[in-house]
Order: sequence, then structure tokens, then C-alpha cells
Amino acid sequence: MSRKIVVTSALPYANGPIHIGHLVEYLQTDIWVRFQKACGNRCLYFCADDTHGTPVMIRARADGIEPQELIQRVHAEHIRDFTRFNIEFDNYYSTHSEENRQFSELLYKRALENGSITKRDVEQAYCAQCDMWLPDRYIRGICPRCKAPEQYGDSCDACGGTHRPTELIDPVCANCGAEPVRRTSTHYFFKLGDYTDRLRKLFESGHTQKSVQNKLDEWFKAGLRDWDISRDGPYFGFKIPGEQNKFFYVWLDAPIGYIASCKNYCDRNGLDFDKVWNSDEYELYHFIGKDIMYFHALFWPAMLMSAKFKTADKLFVHGFLTVNGQKMSKSKGTFIRAETYLNHLDPQYLRYYYATKLTSGIEDIDLNFDDFVTKINSDLVGKIANLASRSVPMLTKNLDGTLGRLDRKGAKLVRILQGAKGSIIADFDQLNYAAAMRTVSALADESNRYFDREQPWETIKTDPEKTRATLTAAVNAAKILTIYLKPVLPKYAQTVERFLKINPLGYADVDNVLEEHKIDPFERLVERVETEKVQAMIDQSREPVAPSARHGGQSPDEATEQQAVANEPIEPECSIEDFMKIDLRIAKVDSAEPVEGADKLLRLELDLGSVKKVVLAGIAKAYKPADLVGKKVVCVANLKPRKMKFGVSEGMILAAGPGGKDIFMLTADDGAEPGQRVH
Ligand code: MSP
Ligand code: ZN
Repeated sequence: MSRKIVVTSALPYANGPIHIGHLVEYLQTDIWVRFQKACGNRCLYFCADDTHGTPVMIRARADGIEPQELIQRVHAEHIRDFTRFNIEFDNYYSTHSEENRQFSELLYKRALENGSITKRDVEQAYCAQCDMWLPDRYIRGICPRCKAPEQYGDSCDACGGTHRPTELIDPVCANCGAEPVRRTSTHYFFKLGDYTDRLRKLFESGHTQKSVQNKLDEWFKAGLRDWDISRDGPYFGFKIPGEQNKFFYVWLDAPIGYIASCKNYCDRNGLDFDKVWNSDEYELYHFIGKDIMYFHALFWPAMLMSAKFKTADKLFVHGFLTVNGQKMSKSKGTFIRAETYLNHLDPQYLRYYYATKLTSGIEDIDLNFDDFVTKINSDLVGKIANLASRSVPMLTKNLDGTLGRLDRKGAKLVRILQGAKGSIIADFDQLNYAAAMRTVSALADESNRYFDREQPWETIKTDPEKTRATLTAAVNAAKILTIYLKPVLPKYAQTVERFLKINPLGYADVDNVLEEHKIDPFERLVERVETEKVQAMIDQSREPVAPSARHGGQSPDEATEQQAVANEPIEPECSIEDFMKIDLRIAKVDSAEPVEGADKLLRLELDLGSVKKVVLAGIAKAYKPADLVGKKVVCVANLKPRKMKFGVSEGMILAAGPGGKDIFMLTADDGAEPGQRVH
């Protein structure tokens, strides 16, 4: 009997674009949903934008627009990116919706009624200049332990220590630099501790992976503390009923957004919401990244229990994306937006590559670009697509495009491919896509060996019917591989279905051999990756000054807020020998002008005595072009020219600072000669 399943992915924040880190999750989920559909199950995939909270508010202010306008724009961008990656939601909604307000109020009301809510006074930092309460991550100051400057309110990147925002020395608002004041106000708390036993029981019944369980055990051991679910205004979110200036904390209404998205879909499609979301008729699965485990493993099921909603059948947690072994980094050009990727590369590559890496574990997933190019070119293009591209054209060119019948050897090959069906299905179902892809690749090898042994390009000269039998086996093998790949590569499968002139493939078709059937001419399936395009994508992603990147932290209250201001960890050591390779020269600024479309960049023409160089410097917010002309600056003269989005930069001038208008350039006095070496 076929199953009925509801699936969700975590809701991406509406304060920024989709990047290749996010795509780990949306592709993992999309592949699973497509797999379930291919099995003949009824599967609904819901998601939405996570629109509320401080970062969205700040981002909108910075852009000089209303939050509503920002979230609308981002919503359209997110949908565009997902669509181009063939990620197919049944509904992609928004947490800023009427349904979500109603469910948030309902869950809150039920929690209130059953005594799960308590009130307490909280002292918090407030920036009068920004008119905003500051989450820990929005306060910067000197670390009370190691005295490193520019550290967050909750932890220090330099010494790794944690502290309270009140302990920071000389705290400032990360947004405007003003000194925050401390104010007390009443907050609402959800009494998470009351749910400890029920949560424990939920996880004992196998609610999530073993590796997640270990983390949970630590949290249970530490004790579950009350959870602050309110924020004082101004705040972009839903007002708490009965309050004038208090709002639900974004993490309260965010997961409720799953419900709202489902409800909105049911209403538009004439389905009974109570059945789809809240009965045993449908199974329910959440996919999330490991950074938001606390919310989804503890707060969320507790809220559902409190409101007498059912909890999910399973929580699937995945690891974080690293690129070439390191955290995604803007300065390295590895913080790659979905949009930038699509400017250069075929989305099918990433779908395939992630599939080869994904397992049910929560280890980080590394995107290594050398490995990426090899896997695509040698496996996907060279083996899998190759089987179709060498057999189909031979059949249409020489044999009227008509399949014959399998001979003994052909039937044996097809049986081998058919025999893998059970393990492939189990692997997809259990999120072991990597294993499924290994099987597909091994079967492609097997099929290509068959092709090489039978030498159809030779036999065609003397024995067309024997050749037809060989090609019939090869085409059937290609068809079965396509079925196995279909959740990963839906477009590829569609193309194969088109030229084989067959109905959309499902697992049932594995056992139906395609014989005595006329097919259409071959269409190209997937091109080789060109290394230059990968490089161009990285170059386009590189940003001159290295600001915020997402932090992999676990602290639940800060997971949202850290977004906008988080910094990167200290880079690996650089030896004095490495450092001495840098050739620093005095340079005179001959001209300086803004760069069209890049509000941070100035284009500088520098005179280095014997040579002139053009440098794109990220100092436009700090210096006016006119003030720079004639100045003597210090230039890294031997920096390898870099192609950036706005042109080639042939060097770098020495300037440092947190960014924006706070960038300080090193200048030399009038006596210094252009080209003179400095140390
Ligand atoms: N808005 C919250 C989720 C609310 S769900 C009720 C959020 N948003 S997010 O945009 O930061 O992340 C969305 C999902 O993408 C999360 O599951 C997160 O773990 C995942 N990823 C974000 N960056 C990632 C990587 N670099 N690598 C892998 N997954 C990543 O969290
Ligand atoms: Zn401020």
C-alpha cells in the first residue's frame, strides 16, 4: 500500500540569498521527496521563508525599506533560485502570513492554558541610537579574558571563551557603534523543563539519528532551561496577544511556519488540513542542519506536545558544508550564492555531487572542487551519460532507431542492473544517497564493459541484428540507470524519457524491458565541467573585505541573530618566511574613481616608480576619491593579479578595519618615493 508523507526543510532566513550551504539541505530533501514520489507514495513537500526577527529588521533599515518589502523581494529570489536547481516544493510560503499568525497564537494560547508559560524580568542591552534591543551577537567589545578587541557579547573568537554581554569591556552596538544601555523588561518563557520526560521518551523511540541522540543526551544532562519566547518592540514579528509592545521571538513562529505552509496548501487544494498535518494518515518528517538541532529536537516537539499537536515521525539532521576542507569564506570566494553558481555551472552537477557525498550521518560535507570536476567528468559524463550517448546515436543512425530483443548476454546484463533495485531503494529511503550513487557508478562500469566487449561499432559492419541486440541491452541498461538517478537528476531523466519515447519512469519500469520499440534521436544529457568556469564562479564570489559569514555555533538563542554580524575565525598560521614574500612599495595615487555597481570599491591608478598598477580597493565607504589623489600609500606590489567581478586588480593597498567607514589606510609622508620598498 502506498504511503502518505509530509516533508519539510528548515525555513531559510529572509535576510539573505540562498547559498550552496543551504542547498545541501534543500537538495537532500528534494531528492528524498522525489524518491518517495517515484515509489508511488503520496508525498507533500512544504517550506517557507523565515521572515521575522532582528536581522531582517536591520537589513531592511540598512536598505531604507520596510521589512515587508524586503521579505517580498527575497521570497521571489529564493523561489527563483530553488526552481533553477529543480527543487520542487508543493508549497513555498512565508512565516509572515495570516495562517502563521493564527497558529502562533493558538499554540501560545494552549501553552498559556496548560501552565507552560511563565513571566520573568530580564535585563538586556538596548541601543538608544538604533532604538533596538540588542541580542548578544549584536554587542561587540573587548574580551574580558584575553582582551582581544571586537568580540561578541557571548563568546570570543580569539580565545574561544564564553562570557555574558555584561562582562565585555567597552561594549558597543555592533550596528551603530554607540554604547548600549542596560534595561529591564518582562519576558515570557516557555517552561521547557516540564517536558523533559516526554522528550526523553520521544527520542528513546528513535526520533532521530544515533549521533544526534548523543548531543541530546548532553543537553538532557545539563537540564532543560526555560526558553525566552518574547521580544520587546521594535521588532518585526507577531504581537503577543494582550500585549502592546511585545512580540513572539522569531524562533517561536518559525517552525509553526511548517504548519502554516501546509494549511495554506490544503486550503488551496481542497484537502483536509487536520488529516494531512495532524493525523496518523500522513507520516511527517523534518529535514534540518545540525546548527538548529536544539530548536527542532527540544523546543519544537515540546511546543507541539503542549498544544496537543502530533510530533514528527522523524527528525533528519545533516552536517554542514565545507568548501575545499574549510568553512565557506567570502574572502576565499567559497561563499557561493546559488545565483552565482548558476551564472557559471549546470545545477545538475551540484545535485549529483551532493548526492555522492550525502549519508544519514551528521558529519560535515566537503565540496572539494578538484573532486567535483573529477566526479562530474569521469563518473557522470564519462560513465553514466556516456553509455546512452554511445548506444542511442548508433541505433538511430544505423538501425532505424528501433530496439530489438535482448539476447542471452544482454539479458544477463539487464538482470544485473535490475538486481540492484532493492538496495538502491533502501539506500535512498535511509538517506544513504552516497551508497546509491556508488552502486549506479559500478553498474555503469559494468554496462560499459559489456559494450566494449561486444564491440557494436565493429559488428555493425557485418551483423546488424546482433548489433541491434547489443544496443538494445545497452539502452535498457541506460534506462535503468536513469530510473536510479531520477530523484537526483530529474531533468536528465526527462530528456531520456523524451528520446526513448516512454512515459515518466518509476521503479516499476525497472522490470519492464524495452524491446521492439522505436526511439527518437539522442539529445545531449550533460556537458563536461570546465575548470575555468569553476574558477570564474569562485572569482565572482570573492569579496574584497572579509565580513560576515554564518557561524556554526550551537547556542540556540543566538542562532538567528548571529547571522548579520558573525565574523570568521582566525586563519591558519602564516610563517615569517611566507610573510616576507610580500613586497611592499610606496605608491602614489594618480587617480581614484568609484566603480559602477560596486558601492564599496574604488578604482585606483597607482604609480610605483617603475610600473603603474590598477588596484580595486574596498575603501569607498571610508575615503572620497578626490581626497586620495596625490596621496602616497603602501601597496603590495607582487600580489598576483586577481580577476574580480568588476575587473582585474593588480595589487592591494594596505588598509584595515572592521569595514564600512571604519577602514584605515596606511599613508606615507611626502619624502617617500614611489616604488621605494618598505618593511
Ligand atoms: N531560519 C532558520 C530555520 C528555521 S526552521 C523553522 C535557519 N535558517 S538558515 O537560512 O540559516 O538555514 C536554513 C537551513 O539551511 C538550516 O537547516 C541550516 O542548517 C541549513 N544550512 C545553512 N547553512 C548551511 C551550510 N553551510 N551547510 C549545510 N547546511 C546549512 O536556520
Ligand atoms: Zn546601535
